[in-house]
Amino acid sequence: MAPSPKRSFLPLSLSLILSLSALFLFSLYRSSTSTTSSTSHFSLPSLHSPPPPFTFTVKLLAFDRLSSLSRCLRSLSVAHYDNDRVNLHIFIDHFKVTDTSSTGSLDVDSKLNESRKILDFVDGFNWEFGEKLVHYRTGNVGLQAQWLEAWWPSSDDEFAFVVEDDLEVSPLYYKFLKGLIGYYYYNASNFSPWIYGASLQRPRFVPGKHGNKLQLDSNTRIFLYQLVGTWGQLLFPRPWKEFRLWYDTHKTKGIKPFLQGMVTSGWYKRMGERIWTPWYIKFIHSHGYFNLYTSFSHERALSISHRDAGVNYGKTAGPDSNLLDVKSLDFNLLEMQPLSKLKWYDYCFRQVLPDRVVRDLNELGFVLHSLQKSKTIILVNVHKVSQTVTRNLLCHFEGLNIQNYILVGPKSNFLLDLARRGHPVIDVDQFLENMQSHKMIDFQRSTLGLIKEILVNAYVVEKTLELGYNTWLVDGNMLPVSSNMFLDVTDPSFDFYAGNTFKVLFVRSSSSAKKIWVDDFIQRVEKMVNSLKGKDLVSMDGRNFAFVVTKLLEQKGVKIKARRNRYVDHRWRIFVHGCCLSRVMTSDCQRRCLLQ
Ligand SMILES: *[C@@H]1O[C@H](CO)[C@@H](O)[C@H](O)[C@H]1NC(C)=O
Ligand SMILES: *[C@@H]1O[C@H](CO)[C@@H](O)[C@H](O)[C@H]1NC(C)=O
Repeated sequence: MAPSPKRSFLPLSLSLILSLSALFLFSLYRSSTSTTSSTSHFSLPSLHSPPPPFTFTVKLLAFDRLSSLSRCLRSLSVAHYDNDRVNLHIFIDHFKVTDTSSTGSLDVDSKLNESRKILDFVDGFNWEFGEKLVHYRTGNVGLQAQWLEAWWPSSDDEFAFVVEDDLEVSPLYYKFLKGLIGYYYYNASNFSPWIYGASLQRPRFVPGKHGNKLQLDSNTRIFLYQLVGTWGQLLFPRPWKEFRLWYDTHKTKGIKPFLQGMVTSGWYKRMGERIWTPWYIKFIHSHGYFNLYTSFSHERALSISHRDAGVNYGKTAGPDSNLLDVKSLDFNLLEMQPLSKLKWYDYCFRQVLPDRVVRDLNELGFVLHSLQKSKTIILVNVHKVSQTVTRNLLCHFEGLNIQNYILVGPKSNFLLDLARRGHPVIDVDQFLENMQSHKMIDFQRSTLGLIKEILVNAYVVEKTLELGYNTWLVDGNMLPVSSNMFLDVTDPSFDFYAGNTFKVLFVRSSSSAKKIWVDDFIQRVEKMVNSLKGKDLVSMDGRNFAFVVTKLLEQKGVKIKARRNRYVDHRWRIFVHGCCLSRVMTSDCQRRCLLQ
């Protein structure tokens, strides 16, 4: 529903500009996410019998802190390596070379001396487990290049474990990572192409503004979380390579790694290219990847940071956690839980429930149950809604903390990918096939999708009424402006609300509404749909479930709350070609969503 008729008809030139810019943004989007699809060709690493066929390299990033570096190296060298070959690559960043006329050459001399000491120490450091390689930089490159240039995987059987110099690792760290690689990478039943690695640090930080507190029950020892952990991060080869290519594309084209609602966007604004995490966080978000984490009791971890003064800390903050060592080990470290048992968390530390795909009424019950925090369900119809617009809508839902929705649409890779990322979906094709009573062959192809959608909505609403949920049916082309709109249907004298362009319909969970549905409503919908048989798309234009239901309810003489309902009109905006029509929303929605 357009707030006023004027807004629904933009001048042609303006709408052309809007659609062209949307097209442009869309193609940017496509190019930025094209690597996503390549992951579907990911071939599972072959399962070999032990010893594992992988190479393991520690990438140690150092700068100018000799005492930190020596502590880190010492902890690495006393770890248990089971006679496996483990390489050590040390990257030493150079100090900043500034104009010496003001500071004097004494300062430079002492810095040169400090560097020599670090190099001497590293040269004299004995590494008996594999290759030792020292990379001494000629200029100051900062943490971003230190991380990104530390590794280019040359095979799918190569792993990098990145540590910054103020870390200390547990003597057990390698045994654990080896077990983890064997279990979650080389065991096909626990492998997922969406896992990019494992962090050994104690999880502490939630980067999404207004995110949940990081809380886990005491039974959770391993879980999945999107955030990268910079204190002891194991990287899997394929996602890292994808990241390097993604970064290359975005950086070269000047696309910034802003992510709405994340504190890391603020870091990026302040620190720019000195840090790398905003880039990686944005990449992980766009690809829907996850990281393995450990949660041990008593604030223990296999890798801790001493948070020494340096690039990240102005002054030394001290160890963040307790090191889990052989002495304090009071459980079986190598016992891994099957992937299917692990919990997944997004950047706001909200639990993600992947792969909620509804294919029949039974599964609908489960999914509704998983949304049970709310007594109201939003069914979003995405038939004929473009991917960009759908993503944008979901992005707005996320921004408004709306979680009680289900997407209703035809089966597609896109829909399944959304489900994998935790958005519940109803696959209308499969759903109707399982209802079995419908032969769709008589319908023209052009109207088939719409008809399926109408039928599925009718069944779904029947089920939601039966289970006691209010239901909003909304068109995927709509945008919520405020999350309140779903709370404000307070006038109990009406069971139904409808918008004047049939883009929104509300069905209250009441005994009277239920009665209407249970009586013969589904049959009426089916009959009406059958009467549409053979009609072409033109005559179906603007017809959707809300339209059909409204007509039928009117025929039955049911009161429907004013179509120009202020609640509805004021809180939804029509959304065309990937951009909002309302002027207030245009810049907001572009900033918030389309750039992703
Ligand atoms: C640098 O080291 C040299 C030789 O060890 C020493 O003579 C010199 O005083 C040192 N300079 C500074 C500024 O520390
Ligand atoms: C692979 O994982 C499955 C399921 O978790 C487990 O039962 C099986 O023992 C594992 N196989 C190996 C070789 O570890």
